[in-house]
Amino acid sequence: MNNINIIPTTEEHLDAIAEIEAMCFSTPWSRNSFADSMSNKQVISFFTATLNNEIVGYICLFHLFEEGELLNIAVKPNFRNCGIAQKMINKMFELFKQKEVTRITLELRESNINAKSLYLKNGFEPIGIRKNYYTSPLENGIVMQKNI
Ligand SMILES: CC(C)(COP(=O)(O)OP(=O)(O)OC[C@H]1O[C@@H](n2cnc3c(N)ncnc32)[C@H](O)[C@@H]1OP(=O)(O)O)[C@@H](O)C(=O)NCCC(=O)NCCS
Repeated sequence: MNNINIIPTTEEHLDAIAEIEAMCFSTPWSRNSFADSMSNKQVISFFTATLNNEIVGYICLFHLFEEGELLNIAVKPNFRNCGIAQKMINKMFELFKQKEVTRITLELRESNINAKSLYLKNGFEPIGIRKNYYTSPLENGIVMQKNI
């Protein structure tokens, strides 16, 4: 799809982002936690995916010196499997290269095969397990990493 745009997140996007977050996660970030992370621009970058001006996804990234972390990524359920997450991941690589990040870390639920497949496809490798890290339901976290 050519009409997907990845743009810097603004305050006006946050209601739609919090709605998508609530559709995607059992322990969602609140609108306030998104607003808080946005205010920390030195170390947090936040992008919104739009399709024909509708907000359909978002990605939230942490960066400090050479360390990068993918904090959150989600796509609205009825817009999945059309390359929106991949476009946001491409934006992440572009940003982290500009910021001279050399190592990216992320973490996901063991059962999240769609996300795991996205990360493996992008060169991330599992480096550890965080036992019972997630709640609702209780589940192990997988830590993945990629050097860039
Ligand atoms: C994971 C998620 C972000 C993927 O978004 P998406 O826009 O559907 O992904 P894309 O269409 O860009 O797909 C890119 C790659 O991801 C993987 N993938 C995405 N959906 C998949 C599925 N249903 N089955 C298997 N692999 C899948 C594939 O590797 C795919 O590449 P391919 O199309 O060449 O096979 C989306 O499913 C989502 O929002 N899930 C809920 C929130 C979440 O789990 N976030 C991650 C937390 S760690």
